[in-house]
Amino acid sequence: SLIRAAQYGSRFMAEVKRVKMEKKQEEEKLKRQAERAKKTEDPMLEELILQTKMQQQKEQAAEKAVDEWRKQAKIESYGIRSQLSMQEQRESLPVFDKREELLKQVQENDIVVVVGETGSGKTTQITQYLAEEGYGNKGIIACTQPRRVAATSVAKRVAEEVGCKVGDEVGYTIRFEDVTSDRTIIKYMTDGMLQVEALSDPDMKRYSVIMLDEAHERTVATDVLFALLKDAVKRRKGSLKLIVTSATLDSAKFSKYFFDCPVFHIKGRTFPVKIFYTKRPELDYIESTIDTVIDVHVNNPKGDILVFLTGRDEIDTCCETIIEKMSVLYKSDPKMAELIVLPIYSALPSEMQSRIFEPTPEGKRKVVLATNIAETSITIDGIYYVVDPGFVKVNAYNAKLGMDSLIVQPVSRAQADQRSGRAGRTGPGVCFRLYTKNAYLNEMSANTVPEIQRQNLSNTILMLKAMGISDVLNFGFMDPPEEDTILSALDELYILDALDVDGNLTKTGKYMTSFPMEPKLTKTLIKSIEFNCSYEVIIIIAMLSVPDVFYRPKEKKERADKMKSKFNDYNGDHLTLLNVYLKWEDSNFSKSWCQDHFIHEKSLKRARDVKRQLLSIVENLDRKERRLDSSVRSCKGNYDLIRKTFVSGFFKNTAKRASNHGHKDEEGSYRTLVENIPVYMHPSSSLFKKHGVDYVLYHTLVLTNKEYMHCITKIDPKWLILYAPRFFKQADPNQLSLTKRRERIQPLFNRNDPKEKWRLSRGRR
Ligand code: CDP
Ligand code: MG
Repeated sequence: SLIRAAQYGSRFMAEVKRVKMEKKQEEEKLKRQAERAKKTEDPMLEELILQTKMQQQKEQAAEKAVDEWRKQAKIESYGIRSQLSMQEQRESLPVFDKREELLKQVQENDIVVVVGETGSGKTTQITQYLAEEGYGNKGIIACTQPRRVAATSVAKRVAEEVGCKVGDEVGYTIRFEDVTSDRTIIKYMTDGMLQVEALSDPDMKRYSVIMLDEAHERTVATDVLFALLKDAVKRRKGSLKLIVTSATLDSAKFSKYFFDCPVFHIKGRTFPVKIFYTKRPELDYIESTIDTVIDVHVNNPKGDILVFLTGRDEIDTCCETIIEKMSVLYKSDPKMAELIVLPIYSALPSEMQSRIFEPTPEGKRKVVLATNIAETSITIDGIYYVVDPGFVKVNAYNAKLGMDSLIVQPVSRAQADQRSGRAGRTGPGVCFRLYTKNAYLNEMSANTVPEIQRQNLSNTILMLKAMGISDVLNFGFMDPPEEDTILSALDELYILDALDVDGNLTKTGKYMTSFPMEPKLTKTLIKSIEFNCSYEVIIIIAMLSVPDVFYRPKEKKERADKMKSKFNDYNGDHLTLLNVYLKWEDSNFSKSWCQDHFIHEKSLKRARDVKRQLLSIVENLDRKERRLDSSVRSCKGNYDLIRKTFVSGFFKNTAKRASNHGHKDEEGSYRTLVENIPVYMHPSSSLFKKHGVDYVLYHTLVLTNKEYMHCITKIDPKWLILYAPRFFKQADPNQLSLTKRRERIQPLFNRNDPKEKWRLSRGRR
């Protein structure tokens, strides 16, 4: 029912209202019966009264308990932390009492696993203790985070505690952004960035201590680093320390994997959290989230609210609606306390991000709407209420189909517990789970599946190959991915020309590892150099790697769409993105131009940074590798070259308009060329409802109620044979069905057997 609930939409709100109405009527009937019973003394009805009374008493007791907690909470901690000095705040954290013991463990062991409640001070304090102890003199102290926002926000916080500017003694490195210097001794970074560094320096010589934080998240990069660093520590005996930290994890398993290392526990200070479930599955969790937030604000004592949603669009919509509804309430009740509405997700500009940490002014309340980044990576003080609709957006990879897509799915029980735990950090709290207790107990899985078992590994396998690890099937993963997934990654790399028939890195493959992007994009970039359109392709790649540039406010959708249509290129969205960037450049990077055209200026600025970085990588390669003639060139308006270039990297992400077989053609309905899966053109595409778009290439698939293609470009099917010869060939006209004969192309491999696929594609050369 959880999944169903997510898929249905507000169409069913009427149903919800009906159910609520029925419930109310039922209650009233019960009350009337009870009153009548008082007069008649009917024994059956008396039983009823008793039941009703007991129910009421139970509810009252629960409410009273919550109130009690809150009263206590106010005395114990509410608002006090923010009044402490920085030093006092540091000393108030649970990890502080364990400082000496922890340092001793690190001194005596090369690897230590540290387990401690979220908010106990692991991320911000342990690095500082190590620096104070002198580890910074022997090398950099690194701390990895699965998420960019966590890395930047924690670096800022620690710089503040240390009393330096970010980038001095304390800095951070995330993709396309390096804020460190020669003085930096504490460096927060994404796990992906450390994985890249392992390429050029497998021994991690620059570092004295590496802390793999948030290990329970089990991202692919962290999992790879587990194995790589385990070996590095062995090689550097005594001079490299590894600390693996986490909120909750199977410590016996971790200890065993890391040569039976010691496990160090930090007990957090947590308060009880009262959990409420819904009686029936919510049919529209967005709507009930908004209702719950407003209800908490209007009817409950002070304390901030944290809401977990699945992504930026949802968060923005909820923020807008809450602000809208509140403005009505302010008007109707002048005494209504102000509700400060704050979003937090990775794509948010950093000055907006830091606002969530500012203490809430007296007499006001804040509500933070977050992605699951707030689950464990960042701690916001003062949260008393958590609203958890129970969903999360994850990357799902189907190795058989070789298809990536983003899906929204129910959280695991472990995640649900982490989420509710956020309400009990500052004092006793309340968590509203917008799902039934039955869903929690019987529909949710106990733990989250490690990312490595559900993601496309081509990037990871390419890295391992570049490190000289040839037998990737037997790499020492903690939980090895399925063989199919590895084989399918090898296959993709072979087709992209990154590996040769024997599975060795090719020259193209080697260039590919210089770019911090997925192989499909890197291949496209390298091809663009050959096709003399690298200037434009770099801009498009930069635009693809930043959050959506188009801004579509609720009340001005039509105007925004009209503005957007000015940029539309009749050949598709990739070129549309290029148009936007070039027009912005023409406007001299003007802010007002962005506002006038409903464009997110922040996204464009980031794209400009990414573009600069990519240009400098290409230029560096040119200098180092004389033979790659990589000076950046423009195609001077010959945009077909750009589309052909993208085919060389994204040939697997292609689809053909679905034939209608006598039925009415469904708008924007396609089938993928490789697996014949039905996919749909997203209405935001500039090709939506356009005629003559028979073959397309798409950047991503996003699964909501259908598989939607995002960022779509029209292609000529002949290009597939020309630019992806390892994958497509001209079909033998005698062996094909009628439709296929018209198409004249077919994928080269046996689509049902990945092993066969790998063998075949190797054998064919
Ligand atoms: O890593 P762990 O979850 O154990 O805790 P932490 O992130 O080190 O957080 C310790 C304390 O630092 C929390 O009470 C946070 O409120 C505070 N902190 C902050 O005020 N601002 C940040 N950007 C990060 C942490
Ligand atoms: Mg942490």
